[in-house]
Amino acid sequence: MVKTYHIVTYGCQMNVHESEKLAGILCKLGYVYAENIEDADVILFNTCAIRENAENHAFGNIGALKKLKKSKPNLIIGVCGCMTQQDNVAKELHKKFPFVDIIFGTHNLDDFESLLNKRIASKKTVIEVLEKEKAICEETPKFRTSYPNAWVNITYGCNNFCTYCIVPYVRGRERSRKMDDILEECRHIVELGYKEITLLGQNVNSYGLDFNDENVTFPILLKKIADIKGNFRIRFMTNHPKDLSDELIDAMLYSDKICKYIHLPVQAGSSKVLNLMNRRYTREDYLEKIEKLKAKIPNISITTDIMVGFPYETEEDFLDTLDLVKTCRFNGAFTFVYSRRKGTVADKMDGQIEESVSKDRIQRLIELQNQIAKEISLEYKDKVVEVLCEDFDDKKNMYLGRDEFNRMCYFGSGENLIGKFVNVKITKTGGISLTGELV
Ligand code: 5AD
Ligand code: SF4
Repeated sequence: MVKTYHIVTYGCQMNVHESEKLAGILCKLGYVYAENIEDADVILFNTCAIRENAENHAFGNIGALKKLKKSKPNLIIGVCGCMTQQDNVAKELHKKFPFVDIIFGTHNLDDFESLLNKRIASKKTVIEVLEKEKAICEETPKFRTSYPNAWVNITYGCNNFCTYCIVPYVRGRERSRKMDDILEECRHIVELGYKEITLLGQNVNSYGLDFNDENVTFPILLKKIADIKGNFRIRFMTNHPKDLSDELIDAMLYSDKICKYIHLPVQAGSSKVLNLMNRRYTREDYLEKIEKLKAKIPNISITTDIMVGFPYETEEDFLDTLDLVKTCRFNGAFTFVYSRRKGTVADKMDGQIEESVSKDRIQRLIELQNQIAKEISLEYKDKVVEVLCEDFDDKKNMYLGRDEFNRMCYFGSGENLIGKFVNVKITKTGGISLTGELV
């Protein structure tokens, strides 16, 4: 009988892509994907640790499998990712959920095949979390699940140590992949017919710094990928404002293949808070970069991440954030309430903000950003945009895709258009997404 697997992924695109690697390993071993978790012989949870609620979610869903495991003793349950990479979490998880079979971290994801074999041979729980990152592994197979987009890692880890963030502790120091390896992967992806490449890293614009070679930088990489023959788009995420260079802005103009879209997390609008966060730029530095981006690339779409309720954030600091949002007029923003993470510098700070205050602030922030997004949406009315068709929405009975500015757009079609670039005239502008007709 064919063995099956199911993977539950939490968190960012990095995790989504790493789940594609786990799926690649399982497919190589002959497993096939099971749509329903209950049908799977191997269930993996690829977890996230960035905020407490992501962890609670994972804990809840893992706990809910106790019954299933009882009724299917041969079921293998694995837990990996940023949550298990934290100190003592693997032990805690094992104690709380002894029915989990394999626990591993971010640094040994590529070893999943041997961990699985070990579990099958020994019939005992396998717990292996490496303390430190290893050299980049180029051999892990991938089972891509997001056609027409393909994720491509360019860096792993992070050196920035923003004081609120757990990532540098669970993903290790920043390591760049060799340029030739990335280019080879991109060429292959384009040959296979993918229409969009999204370059991934905790901070893509510091790509190559660890090589200390002036010919290996993110702008150079971007241009080389754009030189690959074929009809495809290039996106990249995520960026740190301190590393956004003039060269990168120029490189974005080098080719039409490079989407005029950038995700540039600001986190806060007050220089005091930014300093406490160890972001290494001020409010003014950030605004200057936004101005530069808009001056050189007038139609650019900019999105961001913003946090409220960081220790010592006063009402005045928060008003600075609202003011910055008004000035920048972001095309979109992911908004978060600060979440204390054990082991980070901010967790030890006095001046933690009360939940009720943070809740009030996030609401006001979301309201403002929604208003701006709506106004920007209105500008789309009757315009024709080029959309890469990505999927079909059963509920709406419509196809959907994004324009180069990352704006979601729905449209009807009798023909399957997934993977095709189409022109859509916008007829309805709602909140975040647009609706239109094929032209
Ligand atoms: N609490 C809340 N949000 C966080 N982020 C990172 N760490 C935390 C935390 N401890 C947010 C940042 C980052 C995004 C990926 O998640 O805004 O840019
Ligand atoms: Fe976390 Fe800052 Fe690194 Fe982003 S740049 S992953 S927020 S430490």
